[in-house]
Amino acid sequence: MAITLAFDVYGTLIDTYGVVVALEKHLGSKATGFSSTWREKQLEYSFRRGLMQNYQNFAQCTRDALDYTCSYYKVPLCQVDKEELLDAYKVLPAFNDVKEGLARAQKAGFRMFAFSNGSAEAVETLLRNAGIREYFMGVVSVDEMKSFKPNPAVYSHFLRRADAVGADAWLISSNPFDVIGAISAGMRAAWLKRSPDALFDPWGIEPTLTVDSLVNLDELIFKGE
Ligand code: 2OP
Repeated sequence: MAITLAFDVYGTLIDTYGVVVALEKHLGSKATGFSSTWREKQLEYSFRRGLMQNYQNFAQCTRDALDYTCSYYKVPLCQVDKEELLDAYKVLPAFNDVKEGLARAQKAGFRMFAFSNGSAEAVETLLRNAGIREYFMGVVSVDEMKSFKPNPAVYSHFLRRADAVGADAWLISSNPFDVIGAISAGMRAAWLKRSPDALFDPWGIEPTLTVDSLVNLDELIFKGE
């Protein structure tokens, strides 16, 4: 069976730093800290909603996290400013290594999917705007399961939707919680270490592979098989 690759989106394929640029207009030097708090809260809300079985989609988690972060930083953004920032999440660039890495992986014959907490519609828009939608056979969203990563059910859902089995399927993600979730659900996983300072959680569950770029992912996956 051909190897199937499930690519995480935010922070893996898509560089969310573009949001900081939009934030700098309102926050100046506070923008980077604000953006980090916003991302951490966005993920925290997805974890909590998944565990509580009180699902709202990732866009709502992002919206609620923005409201929290505005209060936390005491930044009174008006609704128009907030909508502008939320719109910035819809049009973000791919990292510099992504197009070359995806093109090589496609040429190598991998079955490639985008796999995200984001809704299928949001991810389709993101990938199209970033000019990389053509590399994927499909987009699988956790929204179809009304839960979030790292719920094991969402990885099983991915395998069903991609018509793949765990032993032949790799998650590719820069998010350690995602890598640990996929391996725990029976998939293989490559951790894309996008920053030298990035840390992997000390849980004793290690990535199948660690890479610092997508460019030669095809060679590394074949070696890891
Ligand atoms: C994703 O795209 C949250 O980055 C994670 O699913």
